[in-house]
Amino acid sequence: MRQFNEHDLTDAVIQQLAESDDPRFKTVMTSLIRHLHDFVREVELSEAEWMTAIRFLTAVGQKCDDKRQEFILLSDTLGVSILVDAINHRQPTGAVESTVLGPFYWEGAPEVPLGADITNGARGEPAFYSGRLLTLDGAPIAGGMLDVWSGDGEGTYDMQRPGQDEMLCRGKFRTDAEGRYWFRSIRPVYYPVPTDGPVGDMLRKMGRHPNRPGHIHMIVSAPGYQTVATHLFVKDAPYLESDAVFAVKDSLIVDFQRHEPGPAPGGSVMDVPFYTCEYDFRLAPA
Ligand code: BEZ
Ligand code: FE
Repeated sequence: MRQFNEHDLTDAVIQQLAESDDPRFKTVMTSLIRHLHDFVREVELSEAEWMTAIRFLTAVGQKCDDKRQEFILLSDTLGVSILVDAINHRQPTGAVESTVLGPFYWEGAPEVPLGADITNGARGEPAFYSGRLLTLDGAPIAGGMLDVWSGDGEGTYDMQRPGQDEMLCRGKFRTDAEGRYWFRSIRPVYYPVPTDGPVGDMLRKMGRHPNRPGHIHMIVSAPGYQTVATHLFVKDAPYLESDAVFAVKDSLIVDFQRHEPGPAPGGSVMDVPFYTCEYDFRLAPA
């Protein structure tokens, strides 16, 4: 066996991929090995630091279960998720921008009639959402789907509450003949990403806060159009400038209008202040 030094070792490892018959795998692994070795050389990694990294990655894996995905949280907080999203969803100008899916999507939310209140008893300031689903040319898309979810007005998702088996603040809406949607939920508030695991330790060590600005998630889809997973962010929300997962896009920030108690959309009369949020989603053809 040949002996390698700290400089020619990298090429020797890469050469071991010569027999791989998957060209894409080869490309990805070659680049990974090169960057990894360059990183180790650049920072002159000590053995103690290498062990710290191994222990950290082990703890990230051990924190994962069927409800908790610490590796995705690591990817989110290091900006990798939003980078992958940006590369894979280069939308034509005018189409709604995508952003991270996040770990709190719960598949199978019920399809409910337009105008429904999806809070299901969750606490929070009432908010009435409305807008249209449009083509890039501004024509209405009828029969499109908005699959919506958010935390409650305390910044907690239903699936984070022990024993909460019923969905809160989730629902699917089908757009009407003019491409319109409307529904009631709450005005989302900021909340921290989970910090009780190794990623939380990493954020503290980095001197970072764990918070995401108030936002509501949606997957917007329609037959013949590109599906987009996105958010709407509350304008002027705390942490809009420093989202812990780097997912804010200017085009997704909406001015939630505050209203005094009184008549509200859909013919209801509110006895507390409420908000309205209006946003049109434009989809690119598939
Ligand atoms: C979320 O918005 O639900 C989320 C996204 C990334 C990490 C944690 C939470
Ligand atoms: Fe979220």
